[in-house]
Amino acid sequence: MGNVHVIDHPLIQHKITYIRDKNTGTKEFRELVDEVATLMAFEITRDMPLKEIEVETPVSKATSKVLAGKKIGIVPILRAGIGMVDGILKLIPAAKVGHVGLYRDPETLKPVEYYLKLPSDVQERFFIVVDPMLATGGTAVEAIHSLKKRGAKQIKLMCLIAAPEGVEVIQEAHPDVDIYVAGVDEKLDEKGYIVPGLGDAGDRLFGTK
Ligand code: URA
Repeated sequence: MGNVHVIDHPLIQHKITYIRDKNTGTKEFRELVDEVATLMAFEITRDMPLKEIEVETPVSKATSKVLAGKKIGIVPILRAGIGMVDGILKLIPAAKVGHVGLYRDPETLKPVEYYLKLPSDVQERFFIVVDPMLATGGTAVEAIHSLKKRGAKQIKLMCLIAAPEGVEVIQEAHPDVDIYVAGVDEKLDEKGYIVPGLGDAGDRLFGTK
């Protein structure tokens, strides 16, 4: 079963409060999501493997550490996931960015992939799938499935806010995927919104309604 990491760092919790606030406008909302994504990236990379190399400081030779593991791929789920990409790239500027888009089939109500573009070396990368809201979990399950179908072996899911239902669905469908969130809220409402949540993340990021 994948672990759920609730990142309760005070800076993240402070910013999440203003992200939730309906009086926060588009510009500030976008900036706050970007900042929280950077802070969460710090936590999601905590277990990245290191190796020792030799460097020469101005004073002497030194054995020091550099990242040793797989290269990283960030995959935002369209559209709201895009709002978290730049924040992660601030910490991991060499990461490559794929995109996955899914729509809900009106008859089966199941998410269907309509767009997928990933870095060519999928098997060699460690992927961070990002979406601000983990609501029913249906879209994230399918997005992760899309990556696995193309050969992705190591995947983490990073969201701002999750509903307990969404967490359970991911853990069931993808027990190998750890989930990183800033908060797990109370429930989903009848329209699939997270309560209390923050409303429609895509609309609030892009100023649409
Ligand atoms: N997607 C959103 O943007 N908000 C929710 O509350 C649920 C899904």
